[in-house]
Amino acid sequence: MVRAFVQRGNPVTIVDRVTPEIPEQYRHLVTHVAGELTDPQVREAAVPEGSAGIIHLAAITSVLRSVDKPAETFAENLEVTQGLLELARQRGVGRFVLASTNAVVGDIGYGTISERLPLRPLTPYGSTKAACEMLLSGYSGAYGIATTALRFTNIYGPGMSHKDSFVPRLMRAALAGEGVEVYGDGSQSRDFVHIDDVVQAITASWDKQYNGTAVIGSGNSISVMELIESVRAATGKELPVTHVPAKNGEMPAVIVEIEKARRELGYAPNVRLTDGLRTVWDDFRDADGRASVTT
Ligand SMILES: NC(=O)c1ccc[n+]([C@@H]2O[C@H](COP(=O)([O-])OP(=O)(O)OC[C@H]3O[C@@H](n4cnc5c(N)ncnc54)[C@H](O)[C@@H]3O)[C@@H](O)[C@H]2O)c1
Repeated sequence: MVRAFVQRGNPVTIVDRVTPEIPEQYRHLVTHVAGELTDPQVREAAVPEGSAGIIHLAAITSVLRSVDKPAETFAENLEVTQGLLELARQRGVGRFVLASTNAVVGDIGYGTISERLPLRPLTPYGSTKAACEMLLSGYSGAYGIATTALRFTNIYGPGMSHKDSFVPRLMRAALAGEGVEVYGDGSQSRDFVHIDDVVQAITASWDKQYNGTAVIGSGNSISVMELIESVRAATGKELPVTHVPAKNGEMPAVIVEIEKARRELGYAPNVRLTDGLRTVWDDFRDADGRASVTT
């Protein structure tokens, strides 16, 4: 997102506890506020007077971690969002985009997820995001802030080597020339959306000052075995599979409908899976190359 804004010549303030890497040519446009968003002073510094809007991506993003640490998840996901909305209200910031999730609707088996389903989250992660969506709605209704909640499916792309989700695990296995474990028969399906398509959706919401909720995915669900096949195609690696017993409680499918985003945001995902996976593979190989030069 930062790259998309600075390429348009727009200045950006990043708030993150981790220092971002900013290419030299864009540094004059980027300010980094280092710290914890749970700290009100950090939030104050993160929303300078005259800000055009807030894109709120920071969160406890791991479902498992949220189950282990519900109180921290409440503080980091919900209270931080409320604090930022409050600053938006006080400082006259006109738009607010939240990274939400389809986990707000819980497990609907093989049904299709759309914005029309009731909110029925099953974890602290999903419930804090659902509660954030409600806060956005209230701040929009009472104060006229254009608030957008974008419910992302599984995002992949360059910059995910710190993650422990399935795509990075496959990439690490491919780099090491190892195999992977698959829970059950690997027929469980997911929707993988490339980061460039996610950036397109956020940019469209921002530009339109869109007020509402939209599901953002690729619109194509694929099985775990199909994903592995695509990673083999993108990396040229064998990636042998060992099937291990299925995990209890794993969702059998994530199938989403993206018609609302198409209609109301002009969203049109256009990264093909194998092409998108190549961007992740290149990123992993670059990082690996840098690591072996350093060691
Ligand atoms: N990645 C996905 O597949 C996916 C799917 C659905 C929704 N989302 C949502 O999108 C957003 C971004 O996800 P991501 O995968 O890029 O996450 P990430 O963990 O890779 O990035 C989050 C960033 O926020 C920073 N951060 C988090 N909490 C902070 C805090 N309290 N103070 C300061 N900095 C903090 C982290 O240092 C990190 O740089 C999250 O809100 C997540 O819930 C992601």
